[in-house]
Amino acid sequence: MKNILVTGGAGYIGSHTCLELLNSNYGVTVVDNLSNSSTEPLRRIEELTGKKIDFIQMDIRDYRGLCSLIKEKSFYAVIHFAGLKAVGESVAMPIEYYDNNVYGSLSLFRAMRDNGLNKIIFSSSATVYGNPETVPITEDFPVKAVNPYGRSKLFIEEILKDIAASDSNWKVVILRYFNPIGAHESGRIGESPKGIPNNLMPYITQVAVGRLPELNVFGNDYPTIDGTGVRDYIHVVDLAKGHLSALDNIDRLDSLEIFNLGTGRGYSVLEIVKAFEEESGKKIPYKICSRRPGDVALCYADASKAKALLGWSAKKNINDMCRDSWNWQSKNPAGYCEQ
Ligand code: NAD
Ligand code: UFG
Repeated sequence: MKNILVTGGAGYIGSHTCLELLNSNYGVTVVDNLSNSSTEPLRRIEELTGKKIDFIQMDIRDYRGLCSLIKEKSFYAVIHFAGLKAVGESVAMPIEYYDNNVYGSLSLFRAMRDNGLNKIIFSSSATVYGNPETVPITEDFPVKAVNPYGRSKLFIEEILKDIAASDSNWKVVILRYFNPIGAHESGRIGESPKGIPNNLMPYITQVAVGRLPELNVFGNDYPTIDGTGVRDYIHVVDLAKGHLSALDNIDRLDSLEIFNLGTGRGYSVLEIVKAFEEESGKKIPYKICSRRPGDVALCYADASKAKALLGWSAKKNINDMCRDSWNWQSKNPAGYCEQ
């Protein structure tokens, strides 16, 4: 059995990926400092799969801790989710973001190198494309981050490129996620943001469940189908499976490859509201507000490279995403907090 070290595995995308890894007979060790999560999703994954997760509460900036762990276990590869991800917070706290994301990643890469572990899959983001000149976006589009969070992702990508160039034994896969939403179909694991959500889908589900009064739609004067922002929403289970495809193919790939993980289709805010209302049977009251600074009009992927090289494509549609988001939120109105 191949053992995978999953950093940030207690988080939203990490937990869904751990579940898919276990279902595909990988062994899973999670390192997470629980700064934005709890062990509850891991407990539920064990319940759903009937398999054990090895959990270590550790910060990835703990180089010595990582070294002992890597020495002790023989890992096949690392999937690196650990990081802070709130754009607004990154503008207010750039030092914390660079320290956690960039320094934390360096500590991980150093521990890997020093202990002969050289396969890594890294969570990057469509945010690195900034405001794209055209859509759909291919992996060779120019990159330009517009906030410290995005820059931290870009810096880590650059560091990984240098590492792969320095030693051809490394296998590095950079996955640029578009907009993950949805939850596992069991409704047992899902997204559980702390405080008021920044992102569209958790905001909508909290309106639907009565925790928030109405949705604020950030702008209806964009050059899009109905004036509201268009994004490439991808079901988190499809996204998790993208990591499995990357793992399965990693030995066949070049030293470093970058893939967009999206569906290739964009939906506007109002289209999402409509699909959510259809699936949940709940009315989502909303009001149009001014644009949110830093938002782009249109952002969706050309995901054909992942299809060609990894044999991966997203299978779930927008109704599946809305249904599963609602299934999770309605069964867990306060996320994991009420447990
Ligand atoms: P999340 O916050 O739910 O999960 C991240 C996990 O990492 C959390 O459990 C947190 O406790 C842990 N963590 C943070 N810093 C750590 C550290 N220094 N040491 C150990 N653990 C640490 O976020 P997510 O949505 O699951 O995102 C996972 C990754 O994907 C992140 O790197 C994020 O930047 C990236 N990403 C997310 C999105 C999105 O919309 N959710 C989009 C693109 C990229
Ligand atoms: N929106 C609203 N109201 C809200 C929240 C969002 O109208 O309360 C709109 C936004 O203006 C945008 C769309 O809904 O048009 C999607 O917004 P999100 O905040 O859900 O997602 P973003 O595309 O802004 O950004 C997210 C993550 C980034 C990541 C990016 C690509 O927050 O970190 O997806 O993966 F980089």
